[in-house]
Amino acid sequence: MTHKIRYGGDYNPEQWPEEVWDEDHRLFTQAGIDTLTVGVFSWSLTQPAEDTYDFTVLDRILDRAAAEGRQVCLATGTAALPPWLARAYPEVNRTDFEGRRHRYGQRHNFCPSSPAYRRLATEMATRLAERYAHHPALIAWHINNEYGGACYCDLCAEAFRDWLRDRHGTLDALNDAWWTTFWSHRYTDWAEIEPPSALTEHWRGPDHTAFQGITLDYQRFTTDALLGCFTAEKDAIRAHDPDTPVTTNFMGLYRPLDYHRWAPHLDFASWDSYPPLDAPPTRPALAHDLMRGLKDGAPFWLMEQTPSTTACRDVNPLRRPGELRLATWQAIAHGADAALYFQMRASRGACEKYHGAVIGHAGRDDTRVFREVADVGRELAEIGDATLGARTPSRTALLFDWDSWWALEISDGPSRLVRYVDVVHAYYRAAREAGADVDVVPVTADLTPYDVVLAPALHLVKGDLAERLEAVARRGGSVLATFLTARSDEHDRAFLTDLPGPLAPLLGIRIDEWDSRPADVVQTVLLEDTQVEARLVFEIVQLRGAQAVGTYGLDFYAGTPAVTRNAFGAGEGWYVATALDQPGVDRIVRRVLSRHDLIGPYADQPALETATRVTPDGTLLLFLLNHAPVPAHLTAHTTATDLLTGKRIERGEPLTLDPLGVAVLRLQ
Ligand code: GAL
Repeated sequence: MTHKIRYGGDYNPEQWPEEVWDEDHRLFTQAGIDTLTVGVFSWSLTQPAEDTYDFTVLDRILDRAAAEGRQVCLATGTAALPPWLARAYPEVNRTDFEGRRHRYGQRHNFCPSSPAYRRLATEMATRLAERYAHHPALIAWHINNEYGGACYCDLCAEAFRDWLRDRHGTLDALNDAWWTTFWSHRYTDWAEIEPPSALTEHWRGPDHTAFQGITLDYQRFTTDALLGCFTAEKDAIRAHDPDTPVTTNFMGLYRPLDYHRWAPHLDFASWDSYPPLDAPPTRPALAHDLMRGLKDGAPFWLMEQTPSTTACRDVNPLRRPGELRLATWQAIAHGADAALYFQMRASRGACEKYHGAVIGHAGRDDTRVFREVADVGRELAEIGDATLGARTPSRTALLFDWDSWWALEISDGPSRLVRYVDVVHAYYRAAREAGADVDVVPVTADLTPYDVVLAPALHLVKGDLAERLEAVARRGGSVLATFLTARSDEHDRAFLTDLPGPLAPLLGIRIDEWDSRPADVVQTVLLEDTQVEARLVFEIVQLRGAQAVGTYGLDFYAGTPAVTRNAFGAGEGWYVATALDQPGVDRIVRRVLSRHDLIGPYADQPALETATRVTPDGTLLLFLLNHAPVPAHLTAHTTATDLLTGKRIERGEPLTLDPLGVAVLRLQ
């Protein structure tokens, strides 16, 4: 058992002769690599024909890892079909949104409703579990790889109808949920229902649908259909291995799958971090916090990140010196107990041959990338178990909801330009840059631990959420919602009340109208003495108990409220009726946080990220991450020891972080 942050990554020795493995393991030792993810794409090797299983190479890979003292995260390998399988059972090939049945090719390409796929994938998981459950190298199961996508074949149509029967019970209920009297769609037989695709309800692609209710249900169905593939494999593993934890690698802010529906079925969360180009550091941080929120704050694994460069983008910039270390510590600061790479050795051929790897094609140990990887390996060995199992003591929650994401982005009106993650990120960023730790949680989460609850663009309000948000404010907390929040119910049917629907009493406002404008139209908002900018959507707010904190500056609604605050119980309900620029969002969020004393000690340094974790024995750790390419000069706000240097720092002393530097302070 490793009592340290796991370090390693995806390893495909089956692509190489065994002499190369010797070299791999020598280099792994040099770089402090202790954990290898193996078998992710090995199906055509382990089952070369339907009636032939051959585990000789996999045996050798695991035995070798064990002999070297390394542990293995063993994949079931069911994400890339072997060619024979697709040929024998054409049903396993997906039918795309345009209705084209695909032929064999690529990966992540199986139909989730195919009985042949289900049977053969489950059989593979069974055989692997029988064979390796007690292998000394085995530390975790990695089912499939990056589940995603959708299929629109006849098997999926049939499975969708079954899923709808379970969800809605009767056709009357379904007709009501989907509001099918609109455009003469009342269904009289389940068999009439078609998956929503380019051939049926959609035009201009997956976001333009005639019936939001149908498309929302198909997104939920797809989530559950792929989850069914996962749980079938997990059950097969559990029949032979009751204990080893099981995961699958998620993709963070990935729209097609509602990971909150998956989370209860994973033993721990893991995810692959490939941040968008030029994203601010709060963007990967948001994804880390979303992933940590899946299992109620329990530590997760960073299952993949590139040590240097990706290959799949049109342009693939290098990680600059120091960026890899900083990204690794950022993941740990947000709750990772493992830091793994894709990939350990660069593939010689095919589409990922230029993807970054710990070991490049020349197999050298004197490259910059290898040296940086090995330096991080040493640092992780030195810090040992000091951060393991630690949790984030957030008092701020941000509600994240896949249903709202889908509903907002498949809506005709008010604006196609509003992107859910952009709105969520703006509020998350404001809170994080103010120094608050943030739990990114589902709308079903227990809200009692939080003083502040942020609900950006929470388009759908479901279940008893409104009452639970009122309870937060009643006991003294602050709730903040934004434009386009609380518009519709779980089926995306508009509330038949004043807006913002069930949140209207908490927010003390009423909205009858909204104006949406092109991205280049700038509205001004006066926030007390400061003018900020707003764009995209301008909701016209009437005060029904709330006070105006900010007002619009232009157009016929000039002078009317754009930001409001409502006293509710011992707390407050805030509403931001437009897409404020980042300085505007920052200002509002800081005002809300300061009411609860949640502004961090270094909140005046925007490039300095702070994150807190509390270890199982109660030790408080404060991570300082300098995202700037210049040193950060701070004054220590407390006495602490930097676990990376062993240096003690007295309160009030100067504290300097190198460019892209990191400190892990153990507070006294
Ligand atoms: C991940 C995937 C890996 C590899 C990597 C390249 O999305 O799981 O198999 O393709 O991307 O960046």
